[in-house]
Amino acid sequence: MGAINLQQLLAETKTLERCPFPIPTGWFFVDYSDTLKAGELRNVQLFDQEWVLFRTEGGQVGLSDPYCPHLGAHLGHGGKVVGENLRCPFHHWEYDTAGFCKKIPYAKVMPPVTKKQAILRTLPMAEKYGLIWAWFDPKCEAPTWELPHIPEMEDAGYACTRRGTWPVNTAIQEIAENGVDFAHLKFLHGAPGIPPAVVNFEKHIIDINMANGYIVGRGYGPGLNVFQFTQEGISATMISYTQPITAERSQMNMSFRYKDYAEGSKELHISKKLVDHMIGAAEGEESAGFESVDFIVWNNKKYRPNPLLCDGDGPILQYRKWFKQFYTAADEGTLAKV
Ligand code: FES
Ligand SMILES: [Fe+2]
Repeated sequence: MGAINLQQLLAETKTLERCPFPIPTGWFFVDYSDTLKAGELRNVQLFDQEWVLFRTEGGQVGLSDPYCPHLGAHLGHGGKVVGENLRCPFHHWEYDTAGFCKKIPYAKVMPPVTKKQAILRTLPMAEKYGLIWAWFDPKCEAPTWELPHIPEMEDAGYACTRRGTWPVNTAIQEIAENGVDFAHLKFLHGAPGIPPAVVNFEKHIIDINMANGYIVGRGYGPGLNVFQFTQEGISATMISYTQPITAERSQMNMSFRYKDYAEGSKELHISKKLVDHMIGAAEGEESAGFESVDFIVWNNKKYRPNPLLCDGDGPILQYRKWFKQFYTAADEGTLAKV
């Protein structure tokens, strides 16, 4: 960056936006599997619109656009799960989880299009780690990667059911940028120093190794991050799955897991302390977790597309370039702002 024209900087500041980002593409957490029983349906706000979340009698999960392709009734107000379908309250047309119209109770001949394609927009769904996931792509393309195996969430021998949810007034890209903003760990969180870190970007995956293995994290697209914290050879894992609610509102969600150590053991004590540290709840800790401090910044900041960085900053620009791949339907004008 050359000389800074202060007048220009002032003009730019006035045009800054808080969240100039589209909703990114990827797998995103919808809700916990055990909160949705067979035959249940409810309305959820996600990806900057409303959706109807439902579970069929057979156990399949669906997430559909709320408005019936017939005459526009809201499927989540008076609609019902009937067998494997979601039934509209208005004229009882029925749709399966893939959005195909399976039944019109009073039609002698089904409209031919219903045989050929889905007529209701539904999202590809998955259930993994006890969580319901939806693949969101504004262009309605099929998933381009699978959710990974997470031993701490899926295999026997792990414990801890702690989990938390935190609403934030910012976009998911801004939250995740924290992961490569190593300088703020010292100044905002009060860490003893700026940790040395190695970051690697590969397709939809980002790998971060901080403080020589103290924190090893891997992100899978914008909606899933797994961080292992290790101390004295004992690891605890934070699984983070943030949701884009609207363009300016997100919900952070996290599960915390560690090995199923014996009650009263030193290992269990360290594991619990590591989790406390992640949340910022540990007593006598020098450094604060994200909850108490990051929110003050996130909830009030604006996004600078052309920041002035120094040599001590983390790979902020590389991270932003990597994140851009998830704005699959964004036009050039929008991309220029992010
Ligand atoms: S509006 Fe849904 S069935 Fe008519
Ligand atoms: Fe932070």
